[in-house]
Amino acid sequence: MSAADKTRRGLKLALAGKGGVGKTTLTALLARAAVERGYRVLAVDADPNPTLAPTLGYIAPIRPLAEEEELIYQRVGKGGFIKLNPTVDDIPDRFAVEHRGIRILVLGGIRGGGAGCACPANSFLRALLRHLVLRPGETVIVDLEAGIEHLGRATAQGVDALLVVVEPDRRSLETATRIHALAGEIGLVRVYAVGNKLEGDSDEAFIRAALPEGLPLLAAVPFSPEIRRAAKEGRLPELDFPQVKDLFSRLEEYILRGT
Ligand SMILES: Nc1ncnc2c1ncn2[C@@H]1O[C@H](COP(=O)(O)OP(=O)(O)OP(=O)(O)O)[C@@H](O)[C@H]1O
Ligand SMILES: [Mg+2]
Repeated sequence: MSAADKTRRGLKLALAGKGGVGKTTLTALLARAAVERGYRVLAVDADPNPTLAPTLGYIAPIRPLAEEEELIYQRVGKGGFIKLNPTVDDIPDRFAVEHRGIRILVLGGIRGGGAGCACPANSFLRALLRHLVLRPGETVIVDLEAGIEHLGRATAQGVDALLVVVEPDRRSLETATRIHALAGEIGLVRVYAVGNKLEGDSDEAFIRAALPEGLPLLAAVPFSPEIRRAAKEGRLPELDFPQVKDLFSRLEEYILRGT
């Protein structure tokens, strides 16, 4: 029996962090690690400037869901009138493209002012996270826009874990500290840091020392020239990253064990 068969429910993960730290790259690598573990994966690009599909090696244009205005209004309502139980289960089948075993959904245009803003595309992301029913062995991994101010409590309730990506640089750690505080305010329970582009043990020690209390470092992914090459060529890196596989397994364990 594969690990995925043993799971009692699906996993919803989201990645946040300062611009350029590697959210999209790690979303892509985690998606692949989940496929390897036998999961059915939906990778969601919720950045208004979408780059997840090409990072996964899918280069044809994808129409962002945010442009389906009628559909969004139908499902989540308009203006101050927000539907409480919108149907979203058909959305991945209708709008995601499948590439190398990963379904990719591009939301686009999710930008808004203030916590829990009611702009329609943002309401739609919240609806998708909260109301998409996952079967055991399914996972949704969301590549968020830098910062999480636009999310709010309803989204937080829909996410099993928020991963805050940091690199060994003070600014990204300050952003992580801010995101961690916000995540606490909106009621997110599982928030973990993921170090990226690390060069040597001293980088890991630097990150550990700079992270705020209560934000544990769950993985340390090295700087990789192959990731840079792959980014230039618009493909997934060929290397296996044991740190990313290990990260996915740990998340699976924490979430399914309920700790
Ligand atoms: N571990 C790594 N080693 C080397 N380069 C990396 C690594 N992770 C990411 N990169 C490179 O860093 C750059 C930024 O990565 P990425 O686009 O994933 O970040 P992001 O946080 O999604 O950025 P944005 O905020 O613009 O969406 C890319 O050129 C990517 O190839
Ligand atoms: Mg990105």
